[in-house]
Amino acid sequence: MTVKPRNVESRAFWDGRFSEPGYAYGDQPNDFLRASCQEMASGDALSLCEGEGRNAVYLARLGYRVTAVDFSEIGLAKARNLAERQGVAIATTVADLADFDLGIARWDLVVSIFAQPPSAIRRRLYRQLHQALRPQGRLILESKVDVNATADDRYPGAQILREEMAPLSILLAREQERELQEGRYHLGMQRTAQIVALNSRGPQ
Ligand SMILES: C[S@@+](CC[C@H](N)C(=O)[O-])C[C@H]1O[C@@H](n2cnc3c(N)ncnc32)[C@H](O)[C@@H]1O
Repeated sequence: MTVKPRNVESRAFWDGRFSEPGYAYGDQPNDFLRASCQEMASGDALSLCEGEGRNAVYLARLGYRVTAVDFSEIGLAKARNLAERQGVAIATTVADLADFDLGIARWDLVVSIFAQPPSAIRRRLYRQLHQALRPQGRLILESKVDVNATADDRYPGAQILREEMAPLSILLAREQERELQEGRYHLGMQRTAQIVALNSRGPQ
């Protein structure tokens, strides 16, 4: 599978995709998230670009208080519905990442699964991460990679992403070709970056 350029910056594109029947990326959590985050937990988790809820619902089932952010209201309505059907609650916030504020010492976990914001938005977000995560808070990220991407592109590799996350401590940063089996739209071989990063600062 290659990264196909489309009008993915438009809210209308995503509202259209999430208006289709079923779940575009399935109703099961991303498997890197599942592998990285398995234990029952408490604390506050933020899921960026959550879409239709599969990852937020998984985290809520683990015990997190989850806030799911996305600019597609249609996606988030499906996320709330999925949560209700699985007997958990999630909070949803309709917001554009371009002006979303992650807050200060607000989150124990931030999750970014195939969020893929444009580079300017991505860098703005990552600059906020070390302040937004509580001490020992973690970031878990998987994103598509274009091997030719520079730091100004939307699909950069793991090395660029980890540099942008400074001063978080990188626990894992890798890149691989792997098979995606996530709903109708993530099927087949795809190069991805997977990152786990930690806010290793003590309390302020
Ligand atoms: C590939 S989907 C991934 C959805 C979900 N994370 C998953 O893995 O199932 C990308 C998501 O990013 C959201 N998105 C794209 N640009 C955004 C922006 N600027 N602000 C907020 N959400 C955005 C879309 O609405 C969509 O839900």
